[in-house]
Amino acid sequence: MSSINIALLGYGTVGKGVYKTIESHQERLQQLLGKPVKVVAILVQDKTKHIIPSKEVLFTTNFDEITRIPNLHIVIDAIVGKEPGFSYLKIAIEKGCHVITANKEMFAFHGSELQSQAKKKGVSIGFEATVAGGVPVIQTIKQLLQVNHILKVEAILNGTSNFILSNMRIEGTSFEETLQLAKEHGYAEADPTNDIQGYDAFYKGMVLSQLIFQKQPSVEEVKRKGITNILAMQIEIAESAGLRFKHIVSLFKQGEEVHCKVEPVLVTEEHPFYQVEGVQNSVSIATDLLGNIQLQGPGAGMFPTASAVLEDLIQLNRTSIVEPSFKEWTDSSETSAKWVLFCDTYQLVAFQETIHVVDRIHKKAVVVESKDEVIASFQSAYPDIEYYALKGPYESKVATVSV
Ligand code: NDP
Ligand code: HSE
Repeated sequence: MSSINIALLGYGTVGKGVYKTIESHQERLQQLLGKPVKVVAILVQDKTKHIIPSKEVLFTTNFDEITRIPNLHIVIDAIVGKEPGFSYLKIAIEKGCHVITANKEMFAFHGSELQSQAKKKGVSIGFEATVAGGVPVIQTIKQLLQVNHILKVEAILNGTSNFILSNMRIEGTSFEETLQLAKEHGYAEADPTNDIQGYDAFYKGMVLSQLIFQKQPSVEEVKRKGITNILAMQIEIAESAGLRFKHIVSLFKQGEEVHCKVEPVLVTEEHPFYQVEGVQNSVSIATDLLGNIQLQGPGAGMFPTASAVLEDLIQLNRTSIVEPSFKEWTDSSETSAKWVLFCDTYQLVAFQETIHVVDRIHKKAVVVESKDEVIASFQSAYPDIEYYALKGPYESKVATVSV
């Protein structure tokens, strides 16, 4: 019987997970796809690091050898960075292969071009694994967009950051120790800068923006902040006030502009992200008909990501026509909002007319209410203070607070 032949680019956490899952789920895949699924080639950077999984697999460092394989049907990209992934997928599509990618950095910048090329060639592109690991957010959004208008998305999209913030709080481990653990679990990238500085979440936000709004905000306009400035002491203060740090991406469209913010915020107990812990990701989608839905699950790691890649494999031959569908996001409460400022009392004196102190949660931390632009000028006056948006209903614990 003929088979569905796959070349796997990359044999690290994701590549190995995909290989093993194709082996372990062969019978089910065959039932669903009508043919055996075979990994016929694997591309890596350094062959000496690896145990070759089977003599029947071409294990190579040379992509040209992969392009010469006859009857190659699918190329799965599980390598790192914009290049060479982009060039390899362009060649694969040109050759008439379907492609599936887990490489969000590459797809955030080149997804749109690859999709146009694939459309012209009549092949499919799966990119479920680029956003939120194993959580089926791409398929869900494609499905929703057929009838609903998507108004806004708020999401925890970096498993490593959420794992670090949760573990530091629960286990009292240091930032460095917890990051090391995230690497050992296969959550963090080999170079984890993108995870902890918010770039990884930003790439995922860009993939969602392109899918939902058919455009992306300009990179310079996106406020992007990672979790590296959050101190163990601040996590402790927040916890004692019933608040938790979460690193979130928010995305919405107003007029012709798509707005995206990638930043750590503090959430109250009632907020849907409060209980999202460890490597979990969560995506909250506001729509006009359905209202709000929230998807949650493991956002990184070998088998959750392999699950997303295999879901794409099953979907490849099912076409879905998705027209962009959006209404503007309007929320007047966004103009005056609550914040937690880690600052000294004297620093607020000059701002007492415009920054209203709601609560003092520590001698060096206050909950305040103010407009975005006032908080921005407070931050320019005191660049060293840390401030975080506060999300979810917040009840003041003291009757009156004076500066
Ligand atoms: P790893 O670092 O574990 O593995 C990367 C693999 O790609 C290695 O096998 C490496 O080869 C190979 N590789 C890297 N550069 C090249 C190159 N230039 N040519 C050929 N092979 C190359 O990464 P992950 O498996 O964790 O991630 C793979 C991709 O999936 C990344 O884009 C990542 O962002 C994304 N992703 C990761 C998730 C996770 O949970 N880890 C989840 C979702 C997406 P060698 O082994 O020889 O060095
Ligand atoms: N490094 C990424 C994360 C992997 O921690 O979320 C999943 O994309």
